[in-house]
Amino acid sequence: MSNPDLSQAAVQHSESGLRINPEVFVKKLPTLSYQQGTLFVEQASVQQLAEQYGTPLYVYSKQAILDAYTAYTTSFAAIDHQVCYAVKANSNLAVLSVLAKAGAGFDLVSSGELARVLAVGADPSKIVFSGVGKTVTELTAALKAGIGCFNVESLSELDTLNAVAAELNVKAPISIRVNPDVDAKTHPYISTGLKDNKFGISHDIAVAAYQHAASLEHLQIVGIDCHIGSQLTEIDPFVAALDKVCELIEALKKVGIELQHIDLGGGLGVIYIDEEVAKVSEFAAALLPKLQELGLKVFFEPGRSIVANAGMLVTKVEVLKPTEHRDFAIVDAAMNDLIRPALYQAEMAVIPVQTASQVSQKSWDIVGAVCETGDFLAKKRLLSLAVGDILAITGAGAYGFVMSSNYNSRPRPAEVMVSGDKHQVVRARETVAQLFETESTFDID
Ligand code: LLP
Repeated sequence: MSNPDLSQAAVQHSESGLRINPEVFVKKLPTLSYQQGTLFVEQASVQQLAEQYGTPLYVYSKQAILDAYTAYTTSFAAIDHQVCYAVKANSNLAVLSVLAKAGAGFDLVSSGELARVLAVGADPSKIVFSGVGKTVTELTAALKAGIGCFNVESLSELDTLNAVAAELNVKAPISIRVNPDVDAKTHPYISTGLKDNKFGISHDIAVAAYQHAASLEHLQIVGIDCHIGSQLTEIDPFVAALDKVCELIEALKKVGIELQHIDLGGGLGVIYIDEEVAKVSEFAAALLPKLQELGLKVFFEPGRSIVANAGMLVTKVEVLKPTEHRDFAIVDAAMNDLIRPALYQAEMAVIPVQTASQVSQKSWDIVGAVCETGDFLAKKRLLSLAVGDILAITGAGAYGFVMSSNYNSRPRPAEVMVSGDKHQVVRARETVAQLFETESTFDID
């Protein structure tokens, strides 16, 4: 047992674990606040949302999404640009429709994502299609939809896309995704711009790849693209990548290939606990002089920095299980609902929805009920917990629900969006019956 934290530090690391002062911590996050000791998203009480909709529950703030989007559009207002939100980060139709209405374009990696953005009325000309393994069916669907650009990732994709476009008698607008071989200094699973990664076409053969593209009748070269990784906290790798892409743009001019746009991908990091993360305005200040000199339209593909801190996973403490070595708080969310801690050793903040109870803290491992030791949401967190308490895992708006599964036959959580004091279920909680409605017993003898 230790005393309640009296300091004003948002986060303290110690031998016994991580102590978060929730009231100070949420000041760093958009649209979250404590009102009389209860956590609010905009003007909605999280305790009430949990009671009304049940837990585990994903909760999103419309305002936080719009503010994060606007940070890009205002920071880059001086140049012709288009923000193409990376749908993979959170593909709920509510999130997509809020962004489409605000003028965002979209960055896709599958025809499933294409169908989603078309369903919310996205402007096809603002869509870019990334991904290393686009199938003929996907290329066809995207060409028929009239998307703005294919970010091509291999020589073979150039040939396949040319053939598909010929079949439809159209010209496919393309960028080549170059792999600039820049270290993004992030988790190895989400670093994409190194020679060893499967992404993009190597910087060394990029000019030859463009010349090949130029020789193909049904391709129209419109841009150049790169994306070096995700959860980047520093700006230097972006600047290094931009420098390499600028060199290529010069080399392309020399062989008579002129471009209309440059796509810098996504990747800007967010605060999960106490990371020092560059702000969008700082990112813009570092890149703008070079981009202005270049004079091309600039595309961005941010995902995480738009939605991560606009969302949380709300969960209830089901069982408290102190043991001789570790104290476990077993909650009703698990790795199937939020896999980031298990998959990337990601540390995400866990804060109480009611602060009044924070009187005698212990170091808890917050775990789910899934039958795996890797099923943890947070380790060594100083919290004062009782069965039935509601907790919020912040930063869960990106790569949260989209990466969820039904492992252990667990129905996936509901998703709710808040705007002011209003809220709406934007995805109903799955039912157990839905989990096997498309299955059958095997009836052949
Ligand atoms: N563009 C491309 C081509 C990408 O591959 C990605 C992310 C993005 C844009 C968006 O990056 P962001 O702005 O969100 O960093 N599941 C992992 C993250 C995987 C990111 C994959 N690519 C996680 O939970 O950390």
